[in-house]
Amino acid sequence: MARKRKKKKVSRFTATTANRFELYEGSVYDPEADHDFLIKTFQNRRKRRPLTLREDFAGTSLLSSLWVQNHGLTKAWAVDLDPDPLAYGKANHIEPLGDKAERVVQLEENVLSVQTPQVDVLTAFNFSYWIFEQRSLMLDYFRKVFEALEDDGMFVVDLMGGPGVQQPCEEPREEDSGFTYIWEQEAMDAITHHIDCHIHFEFEDGTRIEKAFTYNWRVWSMAELRDIMLDAGFAEVDAYWEGADKHGEGNGVFKKATNAENEDTWIAYLVAWKQK
Ligand SMILES: C[S@@+](CC[C@H](N)C(=O)[O-])C[C@H]1O[C@@H](n2cnc3c(N)ncnc32)[C@H](O)[C@@H]1O
Repeated sequence: MARKRKKKKVSRFTATTANRFELYEGSVYDPEADHDFLIKTFQNRRKRRPLTLREDFAGTSLLSSLWVQNHGLTKAWAVDLDPDPLAYGKANHIEPLGDKAERVVQLEENVLSVQTPQVDVLTAFNFSYWIFEQRSLMLDYFRKVFEALEDDGMFVVDLMGGPGVQQPCEEPREEDSGFTYIWEQEAMDAITHHIDCHIHFEFEDGTRIEKAFTYNWRVWSMAELRDIMLDAGFAEVDAYWEGADKHGEGNGVFKKATNAENEDTWIAYLVAWKQK
């Protein structure tokens, strides 16, 4: 998904030398916007700064590294099954933090079985939790998240929707740093809502990394997810919808909403509060 644009210098430009995590971070993921949203939303509601974060499906743990940078009492747990992105994140984001690095704990574990101290904020970003394709499994995950939160804790996910999300597509986007990011979505199964998505990268020398990342997901609706969160025990689940600039494009500002137009493709946050 061409979710968030981040302009970052990528120094190696061929399929044989580029690192796929560096390319991913250079094109797909900008955790700064997520980070600001988390702090602001929690602080507005709870009138205190959130200090502890669990970043599920953390990949390179970029959000966790950001979390511990601006406040000495913050701590983050970054959970991912795959040792490769964790190792890339450790070397490139956590170790460079110096003394602050000890406040990021990486856990190579399944989000369904990991045990962590209760946290203020728990996140599942870039739609990663859509790997749970059965309602019972999603409910199981949300219940475990509920248990992993402090009483005044907040769980935040992002999601995409609109008719465009249900159509096959191949969307290339040229990055300033000299490579092309391509988001490919295969046809959605009308009965199961299963989709297979891929990220490919293409370079100026004509080389290509085919299927650098593949995601096998169910397309969930916001209404379904809200219901499952409420069934898991959350006291309140709020939708945060993106505002538009004067050209009708998303402006990056997300506000609480109760109704919204089903635009062709949209991205939103769901914020679930353990207690009111
Ligand atoms: C789309 S990436 C997300 C990376 C990062 N959080 C981001 O927002 O860009 C999905 C990550 O989820 C991890 N993952 C998939 N299933 C998992 C599970 N059950 N438990 C923990 N991590 C899992 C994968 O290894 C992969 O690194």
